[in-house]
Amino acid sequence: MSTTAPVDLGVEITETNCFINGKWVPAASGKTFATVNPATEEEIIQVAEGDAADVDAAAKAAREAFDNGPWRTMDARDRGRLMYLLADRMEQEIDSLARLETLDNGKPFNDSRNVDLPLAIDCLRYYAGYADKIHGNTIPIRGNHLCYTRREPIGVAGQIIPWNFPILMVAWKWGPALAAGCTIVMKPAEQTPLTCLRMAQLAKEVGIPDGVINVVPGFGPTAGAAVVKHPLIDKIAFTGEHRTAQVITRDSADTLKRLTFELGGKSPNVIFADADLDAAAMGAYVGLFLNQGQCCCAGSRVFVEKSQHDAFLEKLQKLTESRKVGDPFAADTEQGPQVDKAQFDKIMSYIEKGKSEGAACVTGGERVGDKGYFVAPTIFDDVRDDMSIATDEIFGPVLSVLTFEDKEDMIRRANDTFYGLAAAVWTRDVSIAHDFAARVRAGTVWVNCYDVFDAAAPFGGFKMSGYGRELGEEGLKAYTESKTVTLAL
Ligand code: NAI
Ligand code: MG
Repeated sequence: MSTTAPVDLGVEITETNCFINGKWVPAASGKTFATVNPATEEEIIQVAEGDAADVDAAAKAAREAFDNGPWRTMDARDRGRLMYLLADRMEQEIDSLARLETLDNGKPFNDSRNVDLPLAIDCLRYYAGYADKIHGNTIPIRGNHLCYTRREPIGVAGQIIPWNFPILMVAWKWGPALAAGCTIVMKPAEQTPLTCLRMAQLAKEVGIPDGVINVVPGFGPTAGAAVVKHPLIDKIAFTGEHRTAQVITRDSADTLKRLTFELGGKSPNVIFADADLDAAAMGAYVGLFLNQGQCCCAGSRVFVEKSQHDAFLEKLQKLTESRKVGDPFAADTEQGPQVDKAQFDKIMSYIEKGKSEGAACVTGGERVGDKGYFVAPTIFDDVRDDMSIATDEIFGPVLSVLTFEDKEDMIRRANDTFYGLAAAVWTRDVSIAHDFAARVRAGTVWVNCYDVFDAAAPFGGFKMSGYGRELGEEGLKAYTESKTVTLAL
Protein backbone atom coordinates (compact mmCIF):
# COMPACT_ATOMS: atom_id res chain seq x y z
CA MET A 1 0.00 0.00 0.00
CA SER A 2 1.33 3.42 -0.85
CA THR A 3 1.66 5.70 2.13
CA THR A 4 2.58 8.83 0.26
CA ALA A 5 0.51 9.90 -2.66
CA PRO A 6 0.64 13.29 -4.28
CA VAL A 7 -2.99 13.99 -4.99
CA ASP A 8 -4.27 16.70 -7.28
CA LEU A 9 -5.17 20.13 -5.94
CA GLY A 10 -2.06 20.39 -3.83
CA VAL A 11 -3.26 18.01 -1.16
CA GLU A 12 -0.57 15.71 0.07
CA ILE A 13 -1.73 12.66 1.97
CA THR A 14 1.04 11.19 4.07
CA GLU A 15 -0.77 8.78 6.37
CA THR A 16 -3.40 6.23 5.45
CA ASN A 17 -2.76 3.58 8.10
CA CYS A 18 -4.30 2.96 11.49
CA PHE A 19 -3.01 5.24 14.25
CA ILE A 20 -2.47 3.09 17.33
CA ASN A 21 -0.44 4.01 20.39
CA GLY A 22 1.20 6.88 18.55
CA LYS A 23 2.33 4.72 15.62
CA TRP A 24 1.08 4.36 12.07
CA VAL A 25 0.42 0.70 11.37
CA PRO A 26 -1.25 -1.15 8.51
CA ALA A 27 -4.36 -3.17 9.29
CA ALA A 28 -3.42 -6.54 10.80
CA SER A 29 -5.23 -8.21 7.91
CA GLY A 30 -3.21 -6.17 5.40
CA LYS A 31 -6.48 -5.07 3.81
CA THR A 32 -7.15 -1.62 2.42
CA PHE A 33 -10.15 0.14 0.93
CA ALA A 34 -10.55 3.03 -1.48
CA THR A 35 -11.76 6.43 -0.44
CA VAL A 36 -13.38 8.17 -3.39
CA ASN A 37 -13.68 11.76 -4.59
CA PRO A 38 -17.47 12.14 -4.99
CA ALA A 39 -17.08 14.95 -7.53
CA THR A 40 -15.24 12.67 -9.99
CA GLU A 41 -16.13 9.16 -8.74
CA GLU A 42 -12.38 8.44 -8.82
CA GLU A 43 -10.35 6.80 -6.10
CA ILE A 44 -8.27 9.25 -4.06
CA ILE A 45 -6.16 6.73 -2.20
CA GLN A 46 -6.28 3.35 -0.42
CA VAL A 47 -6.72 3.46 3.35
CA ALA A 48 -6.04 0.72 5.90
CA GLU A 49 -9.18 -1.34 6.50
CA GLY A 50 -9.13 -1.93 10.23
CA ASP A 51 -11.25 -4.61 11.87
CA ALA A 52 -11.59 -6.32 15.24
CA ALA A 53 -7.85 -7.07 15.56
CA ASP A 54 -6.88 -3.45 15.04
CA VAL A 55 -9.65 -2.19 17.31
CA ASP A 56 -8.37 -4.59 19.98
CA ALA A 57 -4.86 -3.13 19.72
CA ALA A 58 -6.27 0.41 19.79
CA ALA A 59 -8.50 -0.34 22.80
CA LYS A 60 -5.56 -1.83 24.72
CA ALA A 61 -3.41 1.21 23.93
CA ALA A 62 -6.19 3.60 24.96
CA ARG A 63 -6.84 1.62 28.17
CA GLU A 64 -3.15 1.62 29.10
CA ALA A 65 -2.88 5.34 28.35
CA PHE A 66 -5.94 6.00 30.51
CA ASP A 67 -5.00 3.76 33.43
CA ASN A 68 -1.25 4.37 33.59
CA GLY A 69 -0.41 7.21 31.22
CA PRO A 70 0.08 10.88 32.03
CA TRP A 71 -3.07 12.21 30.37
CA ARG A 72 -5.64 11.72 33.10
CA THR A 73 -3.34 12.74 35.94
CA MET A 74 -1.41 15.65 34.45
CA ASP A 75 -2.31 19.15 35.62
CA ALA A 76 -5.59 19.87 33.94
CA ARG A 77 -4.41 23.23 32.70
CA ASP A 78 -1.54 21.53 30.86
CA ARG A 79 -4.02 19.16 29.23
CA GLY A 80 -5.96 22.21 28.09
CA ARG A 81 -2.72 23.78 26.83
CA LEU A 82 -2.09 20.79 24.54
CA MET A 83 -5.61 21.12 23.19
CA TYR A 84 -5.03 24.81 22.45
CA LEU A 85 -1.85 23.81 20.62
CA LEU A 86 -3.83 21.33 18.52
CA ALA A 87 -6.34 24.06 17.65
CA ASP A 88 -3.46 26.39 16.74
CA ARG A 89 -1.93 23.73 14.46
CA MET A 90 -5.30 23.33 12.74
CA GLU A 91 -5.41 27.05 12.18
CA GLN A 92 -1.94 26.99 10.60
CA GLU A 93 -3.09 24.12 8.36
CA ILE A 94 -6.56 25.47 7.73
CA ASP A 95 -6.27 25.67 3.94
CA SER A 96 -4.81 22.20 3.47
CA LEU A 97 -7.27 20.64 5.93
CA ALA A 98 -10.15 22.32 4.10
CA ARG A 99 -8.86 21.06 0.74
CA LEU A 100 -8.55 17.55 2.08
CA GLU A 101 -12.07 17.71 3.51
CA THR A 102 -13.50 18.89 0.20
CA LEU A 103 -11.58 16.28 -1.75
CA ASP A 104 -12.88 13.42 0.41
CA ASN A 105 -16.41 14.66 1.15
CA GLY A 106 -17.31 16.84 -1.86
CA LYS A 107 -18.54 19.84 0.12
CA PRO A 108 -17.62 23.21 -1.42
CA PHE A 109 -14.15 24.39 -0.43
CA ASN A 110 -15.68 27.70 0.66
CA ASP A 111 -17.78 25.81 3.21
CA SER A 112 -14.91 23.62 4.42
CA ARG A 113 -12.63 26.63 4.76
CA ASN A 114 -15.08 29.16 6.18
CA VAL A 115 -17.59 27.05 8.11
CA ASP A 116 -16.43 23.56 9.06
CA LEU A 117 -12.80 24.33 9.93
CA PRO A 118 -13.50 27.50 11.97
CA LEU A 119 -16.26 25.69 13.89
CA ALA A 120 -13.97 22.73 14.57
CA ILE A 121 -11.13 24.94 15.80
CA ASP A 122 -13.54 26.93 17.95
CA CYS A 123 -14.94 23.74 19.47
CA LEU A 124 -11.48 22.48 20.49
CA ARG A 125 -10.66 25.85 22.04
CA TYR A 126 -13.97 25.95 23.89
CA TYR A 127 -13.27 22.57 25.48
CA ALA A 128 -9.57 23.34 26.04
CA GLY A 129 -10.75 26.12 28.33
CA TYR A 130 -12.90 23.63 30.24
CA ALA A 131 -10.06 21.23 31.08
CA ASP A 132 -9.23 22.96 34.40
CA LYS A 133 -12.82 23.85 35.25
CA ILE A 134 -14.26 20.39 35.81
CA HIS A 135 -15.12 19.97 39.46
CA GLY A 136 -17.62 18.52 41.87
CA ASN A 137 -19.61 19.89 44.78
CA THR A 138 -19.51 19.76 48.54
CA ILE A 139 -22.83 18.50 49.84
CA PRO A 140 -24.33 19.14 53.30
CA ILE A 141 -25.50 15.62 54.25
CA ARG A 142 -26.92 14.61 57.63
CA GLY A 143 -24.52 13.83 60.47
CA ASN A 144 -20.94 14.80 61.13
CA HIS A 145 -19.60 14.11 57.65
CA LEU A 146 -17.80 15.78 54.84
CA CYS A 147 -19.43 14.78 51.56
CA TYR A 148 -18.21 15.83 48.17
CA THR A 149 -18.41 14.73 44.56
CA ARG A 150 -15.58 14.34 42.09
CA ARG A 151 -16.10 14.52 38.35
CA GLU A 152 -13.80 11.90 36.89
CA PRO A 153 -13.18 11.01 33.26
CA ILE A 154 -15.37 8.17 32.07
CA GLY A 155 -12.39 6.21 30.73
CA VAL A 156 -11.84 5.01 27.19
CA ALA A 157 -14.28 6.59 24.76
CA GLY A 158 -15.20 4.75 21.56
CA GLN A 159 -16.21 7.36 19.02
CA ILE A 160 -17.95 6.47 15.75
CA ILE A 161 -18.57 9.33 13.38
CA PRO A 162 -20.31 9.93 10.04
CA TRP A 163 -19.17 11.47 6.78
CA ASN A 164 -21.30 14.63 6.56
CA PHE A 165 -19.06 16.84 8.73
CA PRO A 166 -15.93 14.71 9.10
CA ILE A 167 -13.50 17.11 10.75
CA LEU A 168 -16.18 18.94 12.71
CA MET A 169 -17.30 15.60 14.17
CA VAL A 170 -13.69 14.90 15.18
CA ALA A 171 -13.68 18.17 17.11
CA TRP A 172 -17.12 17.58 18.70
CA LYS A 173 -15.95 14.17 19.87
CA TRP A 174 -12.32 14.81 20.81
CA GLY A 175 -12.95 18.18 22.49
CA PRO A 176 -14.98 17.05 25.51
CA ALA A 177 -13.22 13.67 25.74
CA LEU A 178 -9.74 15.20 25.87
CA ALA A 179 -10.75 17.98 28.26
CA ALA A 180 -12.25 15.45 30.66
CA GLY A 181 -9.07 13.33 30.59
CA CYS A 182 -10.48 10.41 28.61
CA THR A 183 -8.59 8.46 25.98
CA ILE A 184 -10.04 7.69 22.58
CA VAL A 185 -10.61 4.98 19.98
CA MET A 186 -12.13 6.68 16.97
CA LYS A 187 -13.59 5.06 13.89
CA PRO A 188 -14.09 7.61 11.12
CA ALA A 189 -16.68 7.03 8.40
CA GLU A 190 -15.49 4.79 5.59
CA GLN A 191 -16.46 7.49 3.06
CA THR A 192 -14.30 10.21 4.64
CA PRO A 193 -11.35 8.98 6.71
CA LEU A 194 -8.70 11.44 5.51
CA THR A 195 -9.10 14.54 7.70
CA CYS A 196 -9.43 12.39 10.81
CA LEU A 197 -6.12 10.70 10.02
CA ARG A 198 -4.53 14.10 9.40
CA MET A 199 -5.86 15.30 12.76
CA ALA A 200 -4.16 12.37 14.46
CA GLN A 201 -0.88 13.45 12.85
CA LEU A 202 -1.34 16.98 14.16
CA ALA A 203 -2.23 15.69 17.64
CA LYS A 204 1.02 13.73 17.72
CA GLU A 205 3.01 16.73 16.48
CA VAL A 206 1.76 18.99 19.26
CA GLY A 207 2.63 16.41 21.89
CA ILE A 208 -0.61 14.73 22.90
CA PRO A 209 0.81 11.56 24.47
CA ASP A 210 0.83 8.24 22.62
CA GLY A 211 -2.25 6.11 23.20
CA VAL A 212 -4.51 9.04 24.09
CA ILE A 213 -5.93 9.24 20.57
CA ASN A 214 -6.20 6.12 18.41
CA VAL A 215 -7.84 6.00 14.98
CA VAL A 216 -8.99 2.83 13.24
CA PRO A 217 -10.42 3.44 9.77
CA GLY A 218 -12.75 0.75 8.45
CA PHE A 219 -16.36 -0.26 7.99
CA GLY A 220 -19.25 -0.18 10.43
CA PRO A 221 -20.19 -3.85 10.85
CA THR A 222 -16.52 -4.84 11.33
CA ALA A 223 -14.41 -2.05 12.86
CA GLY A 224 -17.39 -0.11 14.23
CA ALA A 225 -19.04 -3.13 15.82
CA ALA A 226 -15.70 -4.17 17.37
CA VAL A 227 -15.46 -0.76 19.08
CA VAL A 228 -19.00 -1.15 20.39
CA LYS A 229 -18.37 -4.63 21.80
CA HIS A 230 -14.87 -4.16 23.19
CA PRO A 231 -14.76 -4.78 26.96
CA LEU A 232 -11.94 -2.27 27.57
CA ILE A 233 -13.99 0.60 26.13
CA ASP A 234 -16.28 2.41 28.60
CA LYS A 235 -18.44 4.62 26.45
CA ILE A 236 -19.69 4.96 22.89
CA ALA A 237 -20.36 8.33 21.31
CA PHE A 238 -22.04 7.79 17.97
CA THR A 239 -23.40 10.06 15.27
CA GLY A 240 -25.31 8.54 12.37
CA GLU A 241 -28.51 6.77 11.48
CA HIS A 242 -31.06 5.72 14.13
CA ARG A 243 -31.04 2.16 12.77
CA THR A 244 -27.31 1.93 13.40
CA ALA A 245 -27.89 3.29 16.91
CA GLN A 246 -30.38 0.47 17.51
CA VAL A 247 -27.73 -2.07 16.50
CA ILE A 248 -25.17 -0.33 18.74
CA THR A 249 -27.59 -0.39 21.67
CA ARG A 250 -27.98 -4.17 21.28
CA ASP A 251 -24.27 -4.78 20.66
CA SER A 252 -23.29 -2.76 23.73
CA ALA A 253 -25.69 -4.54 26.06
CA ASP A 254 -23.20 -7.15 27.21
CA THR A 255 -20.72 -4.54 28.39
CA LEU A 256 -23.37 -1.97 29.42
CA LYS A 257 -21.47 0.92 27.92
CA ARG A 258 -22.55 4.47 28.44
CA LEU A 259 -24.08 5.70 25.21
CA THR A 260 -24.55 9.09 23.63
CA PHE A 261 -26.23 9.23 20.24
CA GLU A 262 -26.74 12.08 17.84
CA LEU A 263 -29.07 10.77 15.14
CA GLY A 264 -31.21 12.00 12.32
CA GLY A 265 -34.22 14.23 11.98
CA LYS A 266 -37.17 15.43 9.96
CA SER A 267 -37.10 18.89 11.39
CA PRO A 268 -40.07 21.24 10.98
CA ASN A 269 -39.31 24.78 9.85
CA VAL A 270 -42.48 26.80 10.41
CA ILE A 271 -43.26 30.08 8.68
CA PHE A 272 -46.14 32.16 10.04
CA ALA A 273 -47.89 34.69 7.82
CA ASP A 274 -46.54 37.63 9.84
CA ALA A 275 -42.88 36.58 9.35
CA ASP A 276 -40.29 38.56 7.44
CA LEU A 277 -40.75 36.47 4.30
CA ASP A 278 -37.38 37.28 2.76
CA ALA A 279 -35.59 36.18 5.91
CA ALA A 280 -37.82 33.11 6.21
CA ALA A 281 -37.21 32.09 2.60
CA MET A 282 -33.47 32.44 3.13
CA GLY A 283 -33.76 30.46 6.37
CA ALA A 284 -35.68 27.68 4.65
CA TYR A 285 -33.18 27.64 1.78
CA VAL A 286 -30.07 27.53 3.98
CA GLY A 287 -31.73 25.27 6.54
CA LEU A 288 -32.26 22.56 3.96
CA PHE A 289 -29.65 22.98 1.24
CA LEU A 290 -26.61 23.60 3.45
CA ASN A 291 -24.04 20.83 3.02
CA GLN A 292 -25.94 19.29 0.07
CA GLY A 293 -28.85 18.63 2.43
CA GLN A 294 -26.69 16.20 4.39
CA CYS A 295 -27.45 17.68 7.81
CA CYS A 296 -29.01 15.82 10.70
CA CYS A 297 -30.91 19.01 11.57
CA ALA A 298 -31.96 19.87 8.00
CA GLY A 299 -35.27 21.74 7.93
CA SER A 300 -36.80 19.19 5.59
CA ARG A 301 -40.46 19.89 6.42
CA VAL A 302 -41.22 23.52 5.70
CA PHE A 303 -44.68 24.42 7.04
CA VAL A 304 -45.95 27.72 5.66
CA GLU A 305 -49.15 29.47 6.68
CA LYS A 306 -51.57 29.21 3.79
CA SER A 307 -52.18 32.93 3.21
CA GLN A 308 -48.48 33.49 2.43
CA HIS A 309 -47.82 30.22 0.63
CA ASP A 310 -47.53 31.65 -2.87
CA ALA A 311 -45.43 34.66 -1.93
CA PHE A 312 -43.10 32.50 0.16
CA LEU A 313 -42.72 29.79 -2.45
CA GLU A 314 -41.85 32.32 -5.13
CA LYS A 315 -38.98 33.67 -3.01
CA LEU A 316 -37.77 30.21 -2.03
CA GLN A 317 -37.88 28.97 -5.60
CA LYS A 318 -35.90 31.97 -6.84
CA LEU A 319 -33.15 31.35 -4.30
CA THR A 320 -33.10 27.63 -5.06
CA GLU A 321 -32.91 28.07 -8.81
CA SER A 322 -29.96 30.43 -8.41
CA ARG A 323 -27.94 27.85 -6.48
CA LYS A 324 -24.63 27.07 -8.19
CA VAL A 325 -24.00 23.34 -8.32
CA GLY A 326 -20.67 22.02 -9.52
CA ASP A 327 -16.95 21.58 -8.93
CA PRO A 328 -16.56 21.96 -5.17
CA PHE A 329 -13.21 23.69 -5.64
CA ALA A 330 -14.64 26.42 -7.90
CA ALA A 331 -14.86 29.78 -6.14
CA ASP A 332 -18.54 30.35 -6.91
CA THR A 333 -19.83 26.83 -6.17
CA GLU A 334 -22.51 26.64 -3.50
CA GLN A 335 -23.39 22.95 -3.76
CA GLY A 336 -21.09 20.01 -4.43
CA PRO A 337 -21.85 16.33 -4.95
CA GLN A 338 -23.52 14.00 -2.44
CA VAL A 339 -20.98 11.96 -0.53
CA ASP A 340 -21.28 8.64 -2.37
CA LYS A 341 -23.32 6.51 -4.73
CA ALA A 342 -25.41 4.97 -1.94
CA GLN A 343 -26.58 8.39 -0.76
CA PHE A 344 -27.08 9.60 -4.34
CA ASP A 345 -29.24 6.55 -5.15
CA LYS A 346 -31.25 6.97 -1.93
CA ILE A 347 -31.99 10.62 -2.74
CA MET A 348 -32.94 9.90 -6.36
CA SER A 349 -35.32 7.16 -5.21
CA TYR A 350 -37.04 9.62 -2.83
CA ILE A 351 -37.38 12.13 -5.64
CA GLU A 352 -39.12 9.45 -7.70
CA LYS A 353 -41.35 8.56 -4.72
CA GLY A 354 -42.28 12.22 -4.26
CA LYS A 355 -43.33 12.44 -7.88
CA SER A 356 -45.26 9.17 -7.86
CA GLU A 357 -46.98 10.00 -4.57
CA GLY A 358 -48.39 13.13 -6.16
CA ALA A 359 -46.31 15.98 -4.76
CA ALA A 360 -45.60 18.84 -7.17
CA CYS A 361 -41.93 19.04 -8.13
CA VAL A 362 -41.48 22.79 -8.44
CA THR A 363 -37.81 22.79 -9.33
CA GLY A 364 -34.95 20.30 -9.62
CA GLY A 365 -35.89 16.67 -9.40
CA GLU A 366 -32.98 15.32 -11.41
CA ARG A 367 -29.30 14.55 -11.51
CA VAL A 368 -26.84 17.26 -12.58
CA GLY A 369 -24.30 16.10 -15.17
CA ASP A 370 -23.32 12.49 -15.70
CA LYS A 371 -20.19 12.29 -13.58
CA GLY A 372 -20.04 12.83 -9.84
CA TYR A 373 -22.96 12.48 -7.43
CA PHE A 374 -24.61 15.83 -8.11
CA VAL A 375 -28.32 16.32 -7.43
CA ALA A 376 -30.27 19.42 -8.51
CA PRO A 377 -31.66 21.44 -5.59
CA THR A 378 -35.24 20.19 -5.43
CA ILE A 379 -38.47 21.61 -4.01
CA PHE A 380 -41.68 19.63 -3.66
CA ASP A 381 -44.89 21.56 -3.06
CA ASP A 382 -48.34 20.21 -2.13
CA VAL A 383 -46.69 17.68 0.15
CA ARG A 384 -49.00 15.71 2.45
CA ASP A 385 -47.92 14.52 5.91
CA ASP A 386 -48.18 10.85 4.96
CA MET A 387 -45.96 10.99 1.87
CA SER A 388 -42.60 9.30 2.31
CA ILE A 389 -40.79 12.55 1.43
CA ALA A 390 -42.51 14.08 4.48
CA THR A 391 -41.83 11.23 6.89
CA ASP A 392 -38.38 9.86 5.98
CA GLU A 393 -34.95 11.42 6.37
CA ILE A 394 -33.77 11.92 2.78
CA PHE A 395 -30.41 13.50 3.67
CA GLY A 396 -30.15 15.33 0.38
CA PRO A 397 -31.15 18.58 -1.36
CA VAL A 398 -34.87 17.86 -1.33
CA LEU A 399 -37.20 20.28 0.45
CA SER A 400 -40.88 19.59 1.16
CA VAL A 401 -43.36 22.45 1.45
CA LEU A 402 -46.50 21.79 3.53
CA THR A 403 -49.18 24.35 4.35
CA PHE A 404 -51.14 25.03 7.52
CA GLU A 405 -54.02 27.24 8.60
CA ASP A 406 -54.45 26.42 12.28
CA LYS A 407 -51.61 26.80 14.77
CA GLU A 408 -52.73 23.98 17.07
CA ASP A 409 -53.05 21.57 14.19
CA MET A 410 -49.64 22.62 12.83
CA ILE A 411 -47.96 21.95 16.19
CA ARG A 412 -49.53 18.51 16.29
CA ARG A 413 -48.28 17.81 12.76
CA ALA A 414 -44.81 19.20 13.50
CA ASN A 415 -44.55 16.75 16.39
CA ASP A 416 -46.02 13.84 14.47
CA THR A 417 -42.66 12.14 13.79
CA PHE A 418 -40.44 9.77 15.73
CA TYR A 419 -37.60 12.27 15.29
CA GLY A 420 -37.03 15.29 17.52
CA LEU A 421 -33.72 16.91 16.68
CA ALA A 422 -34.40 20.50 15.66
CA ALA A 423 -37.17 22.92 14.72
CA ALA A 424 -37.50 26.53 13.69
CA VAL A 425 -40.21 29.15 13.70
CA TRP A 426 -40.44 32.42 11.78
CA THR A 427 -42.77 35.06 13.22
CA ARG A 428 -42.74 38.62 14.58
CA ASP A 429 -45.06 37.60 17.41
CA VAL A 430 -42.98 36.74 20.48
CA SER A 431 -45.85 34.87 22.13
CA ILE A 432 -46.21 32.55 19.15
CA ALA A 433 -42.45 32.07 19.02
CA HIS A 434 -42.14 31.10 22.69
CA ASP A 435 -45.29 28.99 22.63
CA PHE A 436 -43.95 27.00 19.68
CA ALA A 437 -40.49 26.73 21.26
CA ALA A 438 -42.02 25.30 24.42
CA ARG A 439 -44.32 22.83 22.70
CA VAL A 440 -42.28 21.43 19.84
CA ARG A 441 -40.56 18.19 20.86
CA ALA A 442 -37.03 18.89 19.64
CA GLY A 443 -33.58 19.36 21.17
CA THR A 444 -32.89 22.67 19.42
CA VAL A 445 -35.35 25.39 18.42
CA TRP A 446 -34.31 28.33 16.29
CA VAL A 447 -36.46 31.47 16.19
CA ASN A 448 -36.06 33.67 13.11
CA CYS A 449 -32.79 31.91 12.29
CA TYR A 450 -31.55 28.45 11.32
CA ASP A 451 -28.38 26.41 11.75
CA VAL A 452 -26.89 28.75 14.33
CA PHE A 453 -24.35 26.51 16.04
CA ASP A 454 -21.99 27.29 18.86
CA ALA A 455 -19.68 25.03 20.82
CA ALA A 456 -21.21 26.37 24.05
CA ALA A 457 -24.82 25.50 23.15
CA PRO A 458 -25.93 21.90 23.79
CA PHE A 459 -27.12 19.96 20.77
CA GLY A 460 -28.98 16.66 20.55
CA GLY A 461 -32.29 15.00 20.10
CA PHE A 462 -35.61 14.19 21.73
CA LYS A 463 -37.24 10.86 20.88
CA MET A 464 -35.39 8.76 18.29
CA SER A 465 -33.03 11.59 17.38
CA GLY A 466 -30.65 10.64 20.14
CA TYR A 467 -29.51 10.12 23.71
CA GLY A 468 -27.81 12.89 25.64
CA ARG A 469 -26.35 16.13 24.35
CA GLU A 470 -23.14 17.16 22.69
CA LEU A 471 -21.41 20.54 23.02
CA GLY A 472 -21.62 22.86 25.99
CA GLU A 473 -21.30 21.73 29.57
CA GLU A 474 -23.74 18.87 29.00
CA GLY A 475 -21.50 17.51 26.25
CA LEU A 476 -18.56 17.56 28.63
CA LYS A 477 -20.45 15.84 31.44
CA ALA A 478 -21.20 12.95 29.09
CA TYR A 479 -17.48 12.14 29.30
CA THR A 480 -17.42 12.10 33.09
CA GLU A 481 -18.57 9.91 35.94
CA SER A 482 -19.63 11.45 39.22
CA LYS A 483 -18.08 9.96 42.34
CA THR A 484 -19.45 10.66 45.82
CA VAL A 485 -16.91 10.68 48.65
CA THR A 486 -18.13 10.71 52.26
CA LEU A 487 -15.80 11.19 55.20
CA ALA A 488 -16.59 10.83 58.89
CA LEU A 489 -15.36 13.90 60.74
P1 NAI B 1 -24.46 4.95 9.48
O1 NAI B 1 -25.16 5.24 10.74
O2 NAI B 1 -24.51 3.53 9.00
O3 NAI B 1 -22.89 5.34 9.58
C1 NAI B 1 -22.36 6.24 10.54
C2 NAI B 1 -21.11 5.62 11.15
O4 NAI B 1 -21.47 4.42 11.82
C3 NAI B 1 -20.03 5.21 10.15
O5 NAI B 1 -18.75 5.45 10.71
C4 NAI B 1 -20.28 3.73 9.98
O6 NAI B 1 -19.14 3.01 9.56
C5 NAI B 1 -20.66 3.34 11.39
N1 NAI B 1 -21.43 2.10 11.50
C6 NAI B 1 -22.29 1.55 10.59
N2 NAI B 1 -22.78 0.39 11.05
C7 NAI B 1 -22.24 0.17 12.28
C8 NAI B 1 -22.35 -0.86 13.25
N3 NAI B 1 -23.13 -1.91 13.05
N4 NAI B 1 -21.66 -0.74 14.39
C9 NAI B 1 -20.88 0.33 14.61
N5 NAI B 1 -20.71 1.32 13.72
C10 NAI B 1 -21.39 1.26 12.57
O7 NAI B 1 -25.02 5.92 8.36
P2 NAI B 1 -24.83 5.77 6.76
O8 NAI B 1 -25.11 4.35 6.37
O9 NAI B 1 -23.54 6.37 6.38
O10 NAI B 1 -26.01 6.70 6.23
C11 NAI B 1 -27.34 6.22 6.18
C12 NAI B 1 -28.30 7.31 6.56
O11 NAI B 1 -28.12 7.67 7.92
C13 NAI B 1 -28.17 8.61 5.81
O12 NAI B 1 -28.81 8.58 4.57
C14 NAI B 1 -28.80 9.57 6.76
O13 NAI B 1 -30.20 9.52 6.64
C15 NAI B 1 -28.41 9.02 8.12
N6 NAI B 1 -27.23 9.70 8.67
C16 NAI B 1 -27.39 10.64 9.65
C17 NAI B 1 -26.31 11.34 10.13
C18 NAI B 1 -26.47 12.38 11.17
O14 NAI B 1 -25.69 13.31 11.22
N7 NAI B 1 -27.40 12.23 12.07
C19 NAI B 1 -24.96 11.15 9.58
C20 NAI B 1 -24.88 10.10 8.60
C21 NAI B 1 -25.97 9.43 8.18
MG1 MG C 1 -25.15 2.40 7.28
